[in-house]
Amino acid sequence: MTEHVPAVRTEGLRRTYGDKRALDGLDMTVPRGTVHGVLGPNGSGKTTLVRTLATLLRVERGRAEVAGIDVGARPREVRKRIGLLGQHAAVDEELSGRQNLEMFGRLHRLGRPRAAARADALLERFGLEETGHKAVGSYSGGMRRRLDLAASLIVDPEVLFLDEPTTGLDPRGRTEVWNAVRSLVGGGTTVLLTTQYLEEADQLADRISVLDGGRVIAEGTADTLKAMVGGDRVDVVLRDRAGLPGAAAVLAEVAVAGTVEADEDARRVSAPVADRMAALTHVVRALHDRGIEAEDLTVRRPTLDEVFMHLTGGPADRVDRAGGAPHADRSGHDGKVSA
Ligand SMILES: Nc1ncnc2c1ncn2[C@@H]1O[C@H](COP(=O)(O)OP(=O)(O)O)[C@@H](O)[C@H]1O
Ligand SMILES: [Mg+2]
Repeated sequence: MTEHVPAVRTEGLRRTYGDKRALDGLDMTVPRGTVHGVLGPNGSGKTTLVRTLATLLRVERGRAEVAGIDVGARPREVRKRIGLLGQHAAVDEELSGRQNLEMFGRLHRLGRPRAAARADALLERFGLEETGHKAVGSYSGGMRRRLDLAASLIVDPEVLFLDEPTTGLDPRGRTEVWNAVRSLVGGGTTVLLTTQYLEEADQLADRISVLDGGRVIAEGTADTLKAMVGGDRVDVVLRDRAGLPGAAAVLAEVAVAGTVEADEDARRVSAPVADRMAALTHVVRALHDRGIEAEDLTVRRPTLDEVFMHLTGGPADRVDRAGGAPHADRSGHDGKVSA
């Protein structure tokens, strides 16, 4: 794959199930050697996209290319260059980790000695050399996913698709998988990773496409996406709940468009500000003048959660809502926001 050919490119990709539009004109370009996050709630089309790019679903309308190869026209050529970690992986519980990897190697026609050597190398790479001889049934969630990841790398893919690699894992397992994904990137593999977790995209991805209703509604780095919500935010946590109205009034004086949010349980008020230093100075003085005691005062970038709310008008953990009347719930967000 030459330097300028993107690892993945789609143009107007569409896929319907009955009258449901799972993909609704999806455009995406992923430069090679990067980690690209595809972030979206349940039902937004993530799995349909990955399965289409991995040649498991036919390209119905539009165009998809992987490593410069037309997925619809030359699926076999595409298959030689990709690895896939599906939402539900296919390792055999009764076999050991090493046996699973050797079996995948043989399936890829590596021949016994090379399959064994590859299994060893991958077990070591993902910190599984100790447990490699044990049956997979005894593995923790994080270990299993690391083994899945190893299995998807048997033939050193140019492009690796990871469909929700950490869904269902505990925080420790999640961290293990994150570290494993990070270790891939140095090797030049392009990773396209889907996730419902904003934090995961923030942690791993160079660029993020936000998916809603089968199309990309925003795209950029985590930082540029955060900047869309309007710069910095000031958070004030109070000693005493009684100070909330006063603190809210103080923040309103510096808030962009006067939008102050108060969380009574957390004793916190928060507002977007245009000039962080001026805002901070004003807030400290004004709270002091009013005799309101703050326990904590921070200036921060908005979280990706806030970005998602801003872009879609709803939280990221909504249940499946991509079906039904298309776009009725996305008025004002028809175009893609680019950053
Ligand atoms: N095999 C299928 N039959 C019917 N509808 C489907 C099928 N697969 C996916 N869909 C629908 O397509 C939409 C996108 O699904 P999917 O790609 O699985 O989203 P995600 O992976 O983001 O949760 C959803 O509305 C889902 O219900
Ligand atoms: Mg899915």
